[in-house]
Amino acid sequence: MEITLANGPLDLLEADALVTLCAEGVAPVGISDPRITELFEWEEFTGKAEEITILHAPAGLKAKRLVLAGTGPAAKFNSLALRNLAGTVLRNLKGKGLRSLVFDAAAFAADDSVAAIVEGAILGDFEPDRLKTDPKKHNKHIDVVSIAGGSQLGLDRGRILGEAQNAARVLVNEPGNLLTPLKLAAAAREMADQYGLKCDVLDQDRMQQLGMGSLLGVAMGSAQPPALIVIQYHPAHEPDTQDHLALIGKGVTFDTGGISIKPSDGMEKMKYDMAGGAAAIGAMQAIAQLKPAIPVTALIPAVENMPGDRALRPGDILTSLDGKTVEVLNTDAEGRLILIDAITYSQRLGCTHLIDAATLTGAIVVALGHLRIGAFTNNEEFLARVISSATAEDERMWQLPMDEEYKEGLKSAFADLQNIGTRAGGSITAAMFLKEFAGEKPWVHLDIAGTAWLDEKKPYMAKGPTGVCVRTFVRLAMNW
Ligand code: BES
Ligand code: ZN
Ligand code: ZN
Repeated sequence: MEITLANGPLDLLEADALVTLCAEGVAPVGISDPRITELFEWEEFTGKAEEITILHAPAGLKAKRLVLAGTGPAAKFNSLALRNLAGTVLRNLKGKGLRSLVFDAAAFAADDSVAAIVEGAILGDFEPDRLKTDPKKHNKHIDVVSIAGGSQLGLDRGRILGEAQNAARVLVNEPGNLLTPLKLAAAAREMADQYGLKCDVLDQDRMQQLGMGSLLGVAMGSAQPPALIVIQYHPAHEPDTQDHLALIGKGVTFDTGGISIKPSDGMEKMKYDMAGGAAAIGAMQAIAQLKPAIPVTALIPAVENMPGDRALRPGDILTSLDGKTVEVLNTDAEGRLILIDAITYSQRLGCTHLIDAATLTGAIVVALGHLRIGAFTNNEEFLARVISSATAEDERMWQLPMDEEYKEGLKSAFADLQNIGTRAGGSITAAMFLKEFAGEKPWVHLDIAGTAWLDEKKPYMAKGPTGVCVRTFVRLAMNW
């Protein structure tokens, strides 16, 4: 899908449809077709949120159709609603076989608004159908989206971010048989080569030499070798800060639970257990293009959690890169085991501020549902920066507590720590476990188990991966 700026007066723009956003009860101005006034007078179209009406052969316009899209009350309309409305319109018109759209952005010309429209359109365009073979469906796609009345800057930012999120979604949607840890590493390397980033993939031998016993322990049950993917961005000008951001993403390409095997009902969804890793890769793709002033390193520990004949047993004790020993009481709590070695390694690479995204616990879904990301930290100031970036990007977060007492459940009789606590407060104990490895470094953990996957399609987005965290990661780096 091509995204361009439309130049010249609206009435002369050629397209399958010109899309105009209308606030509730406010008829659009500047379009002369009398039917619009009638639609409003007869209350057939009132501008309610997400309401869409199509007028064919509108008088005075070169476009084949005029599409009115309701924003709801103007006072309630925000960037989240704008992004989603652009996606809804695109999906609606794509389904009808239209090929080219012009968005009239005159009333939404600020860079952020244009970026939201472009992002919404690109996110709406995504279909998780790479492996479908019916060509009929594939004939329906939008070729060109033009933005009338916006800036190139806003358009470019929206395109870069929209594409980065879709790149993450493509990876998340790949099934476990096709996206193994090494395939994920290959995809990361390809992205890095394309966008001029450094990529280093640590293989099993190197991780063994370094002593990443915790990560390697999880990989034991799988025939697929693990990888620690490291992608580095360095600003062209030597930064005036010593700060160095680490984006750490859980990369479990499939989570069966291992010997503590999961019930088969719904297990197919566990291909999305690398959504944090995909978000880190997607964010790096955007960061390479937007060039923030701070160095950023992404670390993605990639493994498959399987119950093979060499798999971790409950009771096994692993020695992590940091030197601490961990008793594995449940092999399904594998995310934390791979993340701790990546967290330690990020500090060895000089990272000063650590943020991780992980589909870590089912408990976060119970706590926050599918709306908000669970956020945890050892440093309130750093979390405030993360949340302000997230808020600006409409990625909603909710902080959960980390009182020291929550750590008690992680005491092991035989090792320094055990990998699970009590069932109660499961997301918090998981975060407490990670925190032990962040040391003194400001660290934020984002539990995205509830937000990385959409179980039912929305008007603006297909069922499946959401690409969550990409926008927050990028904004955090850009705002540094
Ligand atoms: N990948 C899962 C968490 C998960 C659950 C993600 C549901 C998405 C949807 C994780 O590895 C896991 O299995 N966690 C266990 C931890 C438990 C054994 C302490 C869980 O949440 O049940
Ligand atoms: Zn698990
Ligand atoms: Zn998992």
